[in-house]
Amino acid sequence: MKLFLDTANIQELKDAAQTGLIDGVTTNPSLVAKEGVKFEDRLREICEFISGPVSAEVISLDYEGMMREAKKLVTIAKNIVIKVPLTREGLRACKSLRADGVDVNVTLCFSPLQALLAAKAGATFVSPFVGRLDDIGQAGMSLIEDILQIFRMQQLETQVLVASVRHTEHLLQAAMMGADVATIPYKVFNQAYQHPLTDIGIEKFLADWKSSKTRQESSTS
Ligand code: G3P
Repeated sequence: MKLFLDTANIQELKDAAQTGLIDGVTTNPSLVAKEGVKFEDRLREICEFISGPVSAEVISLDYEGMMREAKKLVTIAKNIVIKVPLTREGLRACKSLRADGVDVNVTLCFSPLQALLAAKAGATFVSPFVGRLDDIGQAGMSLIEDILQIFRMQQLETQVLVASVRHTEHLLQAAMMGADVATIPYKVFNQAYQHPLTDIGIEKFLADWKSSKTRQESSTS
């Protein structure tokens, strides 16, 4: 499973990318607004050190506007993926952009049928939002299971990109279900490699090493 970071924060991205474990980035208008910078400038900055797919979302709601924005955004870098909302106009834009060879991430997906239509529009990625479904009392991860089953049965190539990930349990389930990608907040990335027994183990190894070194030094003096 590929791991994308869901942030527009440069420090977070640089820090996580240093590990070599980050395969791509997703941004959205809310994430960029939090940074207080110009959208295109931030995307350019990100693409200077991230070579995998970087999702950039259009703001227009109509087909013509989406296409206009997408044409500008793709000039930023060759790894820009155009993110369009899962609406009738977004699906239409997806189909046209894919015909032009542009990668597309269809976002704000909340149902299996929406995902099916995104795949039929040729989307490179479809982004079901699991956390936001959990928020309204629906099982976000069941949606992933349903979409994966449909895509398998129908032999659809669109990659399932699990989004709105709130905790490591979402990430674990995404991996176990066979999702193609999970985009995760910086906080979840840092939680994923940590375990208290790993820390306790390191402390014990270090303490044992120090005491054996002290014993060796006193036996040779
Ligand atoms: O990738 C989509 C994500 O940014 C939405 O997450 O936490 O705002 O639902 P959230």
